Amino acid sequence: MPVSSMKSKILLILGAQWGDEGKGKVVDLLGESYQVVARFQGGPNAGHTVNISGKQFILHHIPSGILHGHTTCVIGNGVVIDPETILVEIDELEEKGFDVCGRLLISENAHFILPYHKVMDRVSEAIKENSAIGTTGRGIGPAYADKINREGIRVGDLVHLDNWQDLVRENVRIKNIYFKKVYDEPPVDADLVIHLLQIFKDRLGSCITDTVHFLHQAIENDQGILLEGAQGTLLDIDFGTYPYVTSSNTMIGGVLTGLGVEPRGIDQVLGILKAYTTRVGNGPFPTELEGEFEEKLRQLGGEYGATTGRPRRCGWLDCVAAKYAIQINGIDSLCITKMDVLDTLDEIKICTGYKYKGEMLPGYPQYSHKLNAVELVYETLPGWSQSITEVRTYDDLPEAAKKYLARISEILDVPIYIVSVGPGRDQTIIC
Ligand code: GDP
Ligand code: IMO
Ligand code: MG
Repeated sequence: MPVSSMKSKILLILGAQWGDEGKGKVVDLLGESYQVVARFQGGPNAGHTVNISGKQFILHHIPSGILHGHTTCVIGNGVVIDPETILVEIDELEEKGFDVCGRLLISENAHFILPYHKVMDRVSEAIKENSAIGTTGRGIGPAYADKINREGIRVGDLVHLDNWQDLVRENVRIKNIYFKKVYDEPPVDADLVIHLLQIFKDRLGSCITDTVHFLHQAIENDQGILLEGAQGTLLDIDFGTYPYVTSSNTMIGGVLTGLGVEPRGIDQVLGILKAYTTRVGNGPFPTELEGEFEEKLRQLGGEYGATTGRPRRCGWLDCVAAKYAIQINGIDSLCITKMDVLDTLDEIKICTGYKYKGEMLPGYPQYSHKLNAVELVYETLPGWSQSITEVRTYDDLPEAAKKYLARISEILDVPIYIVSVGPGRDQTIIC
């Protein structure tokens, strides 16, 4: 099936695990057929890697579709933006010849991550004795907390409010009270924050717009829209492994609140599932491996964080978790990534069930203590013991690889449309 036949008017791409499933590669791959690529949640905690002709790009704020010259890229209201690092990201892309500013739209309702959010992220992690989340340190949680507390500063404030500087001063004044009385941290200089935001306004002022209107016009004009999820379903603030989650809705609900696209408009939901599982940061991970074998998988998969460089924890594919992600997102097809990483393994395991106190669990446990205590039911399949990185059709895959994919699809009851056999754009099998 050609990539173009996967085309829906609005296609949602979501991570079905704990992030880093390979969303960036898939958005880049499918982006060719879409006019608009939009992010709806998260911020620079995301690290989406795209490889084009041997060159690697890591996107944090900017939708991965930017690497196709024809797309308009949208940062929706649900995203949190760091005015310092987004400019670095844009500079790097523009130095490599990509026009970003001319093709980027930023929602006026998106909130800023400001320097004090990053301090708060660091301090609130450091203060915990045994319960640190292992955040990316990018200020994500505190910025979303300010939004929910109705104390945030929005991108549109810079263009709609004559006195936005006063708003910043008042926010900094309040934060400095906490910094002095609670955090024991030096005060933040309001002038520096204002300076930072002024640079952002000067550089990106023309990108700030009503993205809801833009997207609805694009839909009316029959343009294809690709929605790029960040993080993964199990990091969702409501449905993930709380409290070891991120601070946004990473699942389908985030699209509605983070972009203003109407629910019936989403034609297809493509779940991205790594052929095994990884997780960065703390929290339950039932199929986690340990020792030499985990290290081997980490090396084979190059499993180091694209944002922080931290080693990713590695484990077997967990179909109980994947089934849950499929249920709550309405995932109707899957892309299995990093199949090639398993090339040299003699045996591959799939977790097919969880038992708790001797009983099979009917669903995905909502509490971390339960997840930490589950007994795992595994199926073991033979490996294929040959390289599949040059394979380009499903028929040419080794029989054992086909069986692995068929079994995943059978357990999850969802078709697999794409299999990724390497980081490159061309290292892809459309089933
Ligand atoms: P994302 O956050 O979901 O976009 O994923 P990341 O970019 O953080 O991590 C995925 C990593 O795997 C990146 O280094 C990709 O270049 C790489 N990658 C993606 N697909 C494949 C694949 O099929 N095989 C291999 N070996 N690497 C892949
Ligand atoms: P992409 O989009 C993997 C994890 C962090 C931490 C938790 C909370 O590249 O898949 P935060 O900084 O968000 O408050 O950290 O979430 N995390 C990710 N893990 N991939 C990501 O993004 C992540 N973004 C956040 O490691 O455990
Ligand atoms: Mg990533």
